[in-house]
Amino acid sequence: MKLQISKARPDGFDCGIVAVGLYERKAEAGGAKHALIKHVDGGIALDKALGGEISRQIASEPFKGERHTHRMLFTAGRIPARFVLLIGMGPKSDISLDVLREVGGTIAKAARNVRAKTAALVLERGQVDELPAPERARAIAEGAILAGYAFERYKTDDEDRPAPLAGLHFLYDGSSAPVRAACEQARVIAQAQNVARDLTNTPGQDATPRMISSFAKGVAAKHGLAFKALGKEAIAKESMGGLLAVARGSSEQPAFITLTYKPKGKRAKKLAIVGKGVTFDSGGISIKPSRGMSEMKSDMAGAAACIAAMQAIAQLKPGVEVTAYIPAAENMPDGKAVKPGDVVKMRNGKTVEIISTDAEGRLLLADALSYAADRKPDAIVDLATLTGGAVYCCGELYTIAVGNDQKLIDKLFKSAEHAGERMWQLPMVEEYKKGYTSGIADLNNTGKSKAQTIMGAIFLREFVGDAKWVHLDIAASSWSDAAREWDPKGATGCMVRTLVDFAMNFK
Ligand code: BES
Ligand code: MN
Ligand code: ZN
Repeated sequence: MKLQISKARPDGFDCGIVAVGLYERKAEAGGAKHALIKHVDGGIALDKALGGEISRQIASEPFKGERHTHRMLFTAGRIPARFVLLIGMGPKSDISLDVLREVGGTIAKAARNVRAKTAALVLERGQVDELPAPERARAIAEGAILAGYAFERYKTDDEDRPAPLAGLHFLYDGSSAPVRAACEQARVIAQAQNVARDLTNTPGQDATPRMISSFAKGVAAKHGLAFKALGKEAIAKESMGGLLAVARGSSEQPAFITLTYKPKGKRAKKLAIVGKGVTFDSGGISIKPSRGMSEMKSDMAGAAACIAAMQAIAQLKPGVEVTAYIPAAENMPDGKAVKPGDVVKMRNGKTVEIISTDAEGRLLLADALSYAADRKPDAIVDLATLTGGAVYCCGELYTIAVGNDQKLIDKLFKSAEHAGERMWQLPMVEEYKKGYTSGIADLNNTGKSKAQTIMGAIFLREFVGDAKWVHLDIAASSWSDAAREWDPKGATGCMVRTLVDFAMNFK
């Protein structure tokens, strides 16, 4: 999607859709709430050009300007644009970047419905509720690119399928440079998130460890990142017993992938991101029930987020060195598969008794974390679809964070907030650790507590040494059963925006 800035007026601009945001005015004593047409965004001019149609929509077909509502008006040639899209923005006092992302999303989705190729909206000058114009443009552009996403690679070509919105025009008469820069950032970040969605939605038959590796290699070549991949032999040489154990039942070979971005100049701080790359999780010998098993193609959403974030980081060039570490394998049952009761020696020397072969993520992540920690980064963030229990913490909208350094966690929360992604912290409960040590090895891989999501973090902590580290469980947030404001059904690509923001602001 092309993002453009123009000084044109909305009632004179030729495009498919002109969008107008309407605030909801709270009901005054006795009266009903109603929408507010504004002068600043061309609403009044459009209303006039349409012979008062917008006012009529507000008065007699009550359009109240409530959030999550919109209405499409056909212009019948009265202005160059074919449609005027009224978008409810809720009360002005509640305006936020999220509301604006939703505005962008509404435009992109409505454009698909009426097969509009281009859309335009007025970007007001100055601040709106403390949000400067470039910030607002960024959020609207992000929402439009994210909501315009559709995964159609496996559908047979169909000429009737509406094409996504090709161009979004900001009608803006302020100085364009800062808005242009914000749009460019939005485009890089939202497109990266769509890359994560693509990878995650891709079936396990195609998104194998080898394919993830060659995809990462392609990103590296295109954007100037260093790429390295260890195959099965090199992984064995690294003593990554956890990664090998997970891969043992599959005919797909494992891969350990690293991507590195180095800023210009020396002595930059180092950030490590680690992503779970289980390309399909059948559960292994502890096989999962068949219901919903197809969704386990998304068990590499952490890896996808890391690769996608690296693509954006390579383009936005923060001052911090960033390396992504991705252990990739397929978890399958087979005569050669690891069995419940087996003991595996991990990269850092600890032994782990496998109670459930379905608790595989922590095994390959543990080896990746110890490998990353050996390189002495200033911080490690891992992302993993680690526990089904994550959805019982805060539901499907939240990523769950658990870590060993509160300052680092706080910084990550700042980034999540700025990026518009929801995250909640759970405690590291020391008492639960003993559930891991009651077997024949140093650790077992399930523990005893019902707090699965916390348990995952407690296990991983054994492998980060003294690194400052945060574990993000994205099992709930990386997949959505139904479309939302700007997330489609299926892979959400969550945490890409947060990771990029975190890298951009890392000090
Ligand atoms: N990949 C799953 C977690 C998962 C479940 C992600 C549902 C998304 C949706 C993970 O490997 C797993 O199977 N975890 C087990 C952990 C248990 C055996 C300790 C789980 O959630 O039951
Ligand atoms: Mn599993
Ligand atoms: Zn898994």
